[in-house]
Amino acid sequence: MNTPFDLNNEAIYQRWREQKLDRAPISVADLIIEIDDPCHLSDSEHAALLERCQRANMVIYASGKHSASKDIARQIGRQFGLESMDCNFLAGEDGISEIKVSTAGDQSRQAYIPYTNRPIKWHTDGYYNTPARRVRGMVLHCVHSAADGGENHLMDHEMAYLLLRDSNPDFIRALSAPDAMTIPERTDEDGVARAAQSGPVFSVDENGKLHMRYTARTRSIAWKQDQITLAAVAFLEQLLAADSPYIYAARLESGMGLLCNNVLHDRSGFTDNAAAPRLLYRARYFDRIAGS
Ligand SMILES: [Fe+2]
Repeated sequence: MNTPFDLNNEAIYQRWREQKLDRAPISVADLIIEIDDPCHLSDSEHAALLERCQRANMVIYASGKHSASKDIARQIGRQFGLESMDCNFLAGEDGISEIKVSTAGDQSRQAYIPYTNRPIKWHTDGYYNTPARRVRGMVLHCVHSAADGGENHLMDHEMAYLLLRDSNPDFIRALSAPDAMTIPERTDEDGVARAAQSGPVFSVDENGKLHMRYTARTRSIAWKQDQITLAAVAFLEQLLAADSPYIYAARLESGMGLLCNNVLHDRSGFTDNAAAPRLLYRARYFDRIAGS
């Protein structure tokens, strides 16, 4: 397969690498596209969003329309071929999750950090999913931002791959092993709610596209205990903690959203405005953004 993500194909990798570095956004401003109505993008708006996704696997749109309709996340996705949704057990029946601080009555969500105002470490979404249910695409639409905080850092997972491979191709080999990272089983009062899930960090799909499965969590995660895997994980941690031109910091304000191929991201803690608490709609897809 002709993919730059093949360790045995150095020539293709080098060509891809040069282009990737050349075309990388130089600042977060380069990733933000002003649009009118996210549900009905014009051809030029669509082209601008897609172009950023081709370069960096992500784009941030900023629209003047402040709709609170939950369907907005689905309508944005649909315009980019995102159809097949991962309906996790906390998503609504329509597959779209409302990311907000859960109230005291909502015990199921309270156990999960996304539904608190606490910071969330670097990860890709659905890292605990089975290989058959890889989250490849995501839409995160902001209805209300927090009074303070709630900022995201973003890094193209292909750029993380590039920096790891440049440092040591064996890091890629180690992180592509099917037993590189294991999420232990999760139990609830009825027994096992989710079986242990082992898998690679990096995998390449049938179309030669790269997928990344990662969490910087240190609890509820077991890395393969060999020297090269641990060295690769340490390198990646340093990469994400460093002041890098390839890490973009952005705060989604009302009407803004992130459309991406499940890139690496984190979230800072935040303080809510009681009158209008932070609210984001999130849709996760098994599809990648079409044409990216
Ligand atoms: Fe996330």
